[in-house]
Amino acid sequence: MTVVDAMERMSGLHPGFRRTHALGRCYDAVFTPSGAAAAYTTAAHLRSEPTPAIVRYSNTAGDPAEPDGGTPVVRGMAVKFLSPETDLVSLNVPVFMASTPAKFLDMTRALTDQPKGSRQRADAVIAFITANPESAHAFQEAATIPVPESYATIRFWAQHAFVWVGPDGTCRFVRYRWEPDAGLRHLRAEDTADWVPGHLLDELTDRLGRAPVSFTLKVQFAGPEDPTADPTQPWPDDRPEIDAGRLEIVKPVADQEFWDRTVFDPTRLTDGIELSDDPVLAYRKQAYAEGHRRRAAGR
Ligand code: HEM
Repeated sequence: MTVVDAMERMSGLHPGFRRTHALGRCYDAVFTPSGAAAAYTTAAHLRSEPTPAIVRYSNTAGDPAEPDGGTPVVRGMAVKFLSPETDLVSLNVPVFMASTPAKFLDMTRALTDQPKGSRQRADAVIAFITANPESAHAFQEAATIPVPESYATIRFWAQHAFVWVGPDGTCRFVRYRWEPDAGLRHLRAEDTADWVPGHLLDELTDRLGRAPVSFTLKVQFAGPEDPTADPTQPWPDDRPEIDAGRLEIVKPVADQEFWDRTVFDPTRLTDGIELSDDPVLAYRKQAYAEGHRRRAAGR
């Protein structure tokens, strides 16, 4: 069984939708670099000129009919810079739940072998974390995410290390984080229990008619001993950071169907940025391609 099969087993088949992050919406955006990254990477979209981008916000559920509020929900912010084309895919959790693709498959199977909401499924999660203690941090974070006021008030992390190649050829490990310029704002979970699927997508679309929405791209540099191959492990908060630029979300894209069909592939990089030695990051390329192949075939 592949990870994509396991995802289908977890959420059921919803033809044409993504296997996970099924319900989302795409927005036109513009990224304006601050200039601070130019000393560390030759990546063209991070140097000086503004570049257009497409952003897809989503609820992580594989079932597009899952409610949007009431409980902690993992959410996504996938950014496709258009010139040059390169993708940056992030979640509202700082670290990932599995340190290798094989462990992610184990975890997904452990969950789906038991009925949703059952005591047995809860026990399977505990057994997985006991066997893989490095995963505890992400589970803890995911279980305690507050319900946000808006997609405009969430912090998102790309989790993996990437390599920046500078103008003089120097390589540095970095991690990305999107900070909402509106600040972090949450609601009481009980006040959001009646939210319909896609509630926060509608909220964001409405908000854009009233106020600008933007995020600052923070880039953290690794210390010499920081793990680069394990997305379950954060780097210490005191590592140096720069503000690489500001992403302004403008309006929903005119051709929602076209952009929703598109893949946001975290391994689609550009000159000046390379994959790190993280095996989960490398694995995502084939998983996203397979997920896309199935949904494009109407499955
Ligand atoms: C073994 C690890 C992972 C696997 C197998 C996996 C698999 C997938 C698949 C199959 C999709 C649907 C792709 C499509 O149909 O276009 C997806 C979407 C997504 N994943 Fe992952 N994923 C993994 C790790 C991660 C990590 C580490 C993050 C974030 C740091 C992440 C964030 C997202 C987001 C935001 C989407 C929605 C993208 C969009 O809006 O198009 N995933 N994932």
